[in-house]
Amino acid sequence: MIAQLGATEGLLTMLTERIDSELLDAAKRLRVISQMAVGVDNIDLDECASRGIAVGHTPDVLTETTADTAWALLSASVRRVSEAADHVRTREWGPWDPELLLGDDLWGSTLGIVGLGRIGQAVARRARGYSMRVLYTGPSRKPHAEAGLGVIYRTFQGLIHESDHVVLTCPLTVDTYHLIDAGVLERMKPGATLVNIARGGLVDHEALADALTNGTIARAALDVTEPEPIPDDHRLIDLPNCLIVPHIGSASVATRKRMALMAVENLHRGLRGEHLLASVDLSIKSQLTSQRGNKA
Ligand code: DGY
Repeated sequence: MIAQLGATEGLLTMLTERIDSELLDAAKRLRVISQMAVGVDNIDLDECASRGIAVGHTPDVLTETTADTAWALLSASVRRVSEAADHVRTREWGPWDPELLLGDDLWGSTLGIVGLGRIGQAVARRARGYSMRVLYTGPSRKPHAEAGLGVIYRTFQGLIHESDHVVLTCPLTVDTYHLIDAGVLERMKPGATLVNIARGGLVDHEALADALTNGTIARAALDVTEPEPIPDDHRLIDLPNCLIVPHIGSASVATRKRMALMAVENLHRGLRGEHLLASVDLSIKSQLTSQRGNKA
């Protein structure tokens, strides 16, 4: 890719591409990067800002589909759907048993949402149907969402302590890398569920594997891991209380089509020097920037 960048003025990227200073050095004529995703943690935003390169992404069009995935993972995990399906597939299904594959209840429980952005709010809206108490945390309070959705603000530590189910929807930045580590897992409820539909780097996977093995928390469901794909020999894969799917948060036919069209439109607009449909705030300190900084 780097060898072909000399004359390139616009790039359409996926979250699998690492857009760092080495790549940007080879693309001296680059004016716009259009990412087909909402998350842009694979792009060194500092470098783009200093070189005057606009960065576009695809928010909004994937919000509802991604919130659906969060709920699919949460309810499948709490009610042990994947284990139950395996039970049938392995021909173990015997007579009805009152103690077979018991899970927990979603309805009436407390949901904690880390990061009440667009996707976090869509997750919160769906919780109404389950009569749940919904807590949220983030860098700032959102009075509008509190009034409209009935969500309650807590500090991060308060939310971790009180929630039965914690859903991560915040971006991966230098501040949120390994937000969920051994200490945080210790402070969660022993029956708690952790769902990650944001980025794998938010969670320390070794600490999570320990917590799921020792019963520190009850279960986890991950749409994202670090790295992706998760290495074949990672112990999380075989834990019955860990449900992992391969980064399918926005994977509906209609949504992926909308994301692709928006990314192409952003690219064309950038090449024409027009405002993008959605530009990334280049003042965000990406995790990629900090990795570069640490290495230096
Ligand atoms: C994103 O958009 O950031 C997702 O991870 C892929 O839809």
